Parts: sequence; structure tokens; C-alpha cells
Amino acid sequence: MGGMSDEVRILFVGDVVGSAGRRTLLAVLPRLRERTRIDFVVVNAENAAGGHGITSKIARELFAAGVDVITLGNHTYRQSEVYAYLDEEPRILRPANYLRGQPGHGSCVVQSAAGGVRLGVISLAGNLYMGGALPVFSEADAALHSLRGRADHVLVDIHAEATSEKVGLGWYLDGRVTAVVGTHTHVPTADARVLPGGSAYITDVGMTGARGGVLGVKRQQAIDAMVTHMPARFESADEDPWLQGALIVCAAEPMRARSIVAVQEPL
Ligand SMILES: [Fe+2]
Ligand SMILES: [Fe+2]
Repeated sequence: MGGMSDEVRILFVGDVVGSAGRRTLLAVLPRLRERTRIDFVVVNAENAAGGHGITSKIARELFAAGVDVITLGNHTYRQSEVYAYLDEEPRILRPANYLRGQPGHGSCVVQSAAGGVRLGVISLAGNLYMGGALPVFSEADAALHSLRGRADHVLVDIHAEATSEKVGLGWYLDGRVTAVVGTHTHVPTADARVLPGGSAYITDVGMTGARGGVLGVKRQQAIDAMVTHMPARFESADEDPWLQGALIVCAAEPMRARSIVAVQEPL
């Protein structure tokens, strides 16, 4: 590989929430592509269907818009319609550390249109407060092993609540993958950096959806539920949508990153 302009660039996009999130992704992606070359787009879309999971129709729309890989999380199985699609489509991932018997798979490899670079993507769920059934650290090792020799770079989406678990996994994988990016909290953290071993890391990239809500939910519904402690119906918010994510520039050396910067872009 040659100079800086040949460097592989990965855009990772945080949890797309509802129609506002989908609309924002589809509008902002071409704008980002005008500003900088992007070789791979990986999107966490666990909240794309009205906040609850994803459908095969929505997944196809995202792929048609140029998304290379879709990752999921604790909302993976909210729409039963998508189960067969999770088994059939290699580029949509549920956490690798779910049970073998649960629909879908947790890793894949995609090739860039231009350079023939191979990107491996692994989806993982935390064990703390999250219900990732199998131990996330050893299953990360197993998923990495399964990609050995098949990928030039690897991106890991750690979908987890506890910051300790995400930071720990970042250190655990440092020097063995290109990037470890966190999702699930819907709130971006300010700790994006390349770790000493060469892996890009951020605890959470945030969400793609309405900032005028509460984590993507209409704010009055969320506030009412917290005030009254009564069950409430949650709908996706529309007010003030932003795309949040991270742009990772890969190093020439495999499994290493040169830089990672947070991406925050209004619709
Ligand atoms: Fe989410
Ligand atoms: Fe989540």
C-alpha cells in the first residue's frame, strides 16, 4: 500500500434509532463521502425499526444505501420477521457471544470496492446487565481465531452498558484488532484514541437519531415513565436528529489503526 491517500478508512455509525435515525443516515452518508473517501461503512442498527430491532426490509435499504455491514445488540430479536434473514445474509451480525442456537451469526468479512482490502467485523454483547449469554472475552478470542488469515483489518463492535467492561475489552484486544468501538448507551464518550498496541478505541460512539429525545425516545414519554413509575408506550423521537459515529483510519500494517475521531453531524 502507498501513501496517506491510500489508507483504508472505516466509518462506524452508532445505533440508528427509528425513522429519524434512518433518514439521518441516508442523508448524511453522501455528505460525509463528499468530504472524505470512505472505504467501509459499518452501522449498528439494533434500534432501526421504531426503536425495536430491525426488519429485513430496513436492512436491505441500508445495504442499498452503501452500508457494508450491519451490527446489532440486545434488541436483535424484537422483530421475529428478521430471524430467517439473520441466518441468510452474511453481512448482518448479531453478537457472536449469543447462544449457538439463537438465529444469525456474529462475524463476517467484506472486501472494499476499490483496493480489495478485507475487513472483518465482529459483533459482541457485554455480559454485565446485557444478557450476552457466553463470556465476551473468550468469545472475542474465538471470533478472532475464526477470522485468522481471512481479514486485513478487524473492527469489533462491543455493545455493552458497563464502561469498565468496554475499556477492559479494548485493552484485551489492543494490538490484535484494528478497532474496538462501543455502542448501546446512545451517549458518545470523549475517549477516542489509538491505544499503545495500535488498536483504535472508543467506549461509545453515541446514536444516530433525535437528540431532542431521551436516548432516541420521545422525551415526554420517557419523562412520564420516570416520574410516574408506570408502564408507558415508547415511540422514537424526531426532534433534532444527528448522526454520531467514529471515523477510523487504518495503518498500512494489518490490524493497526493510525487514527480515530468522533463524528457528530446534524441532519
Ligand atoms: Fe441501542
Ligand atoms: Fe442496545
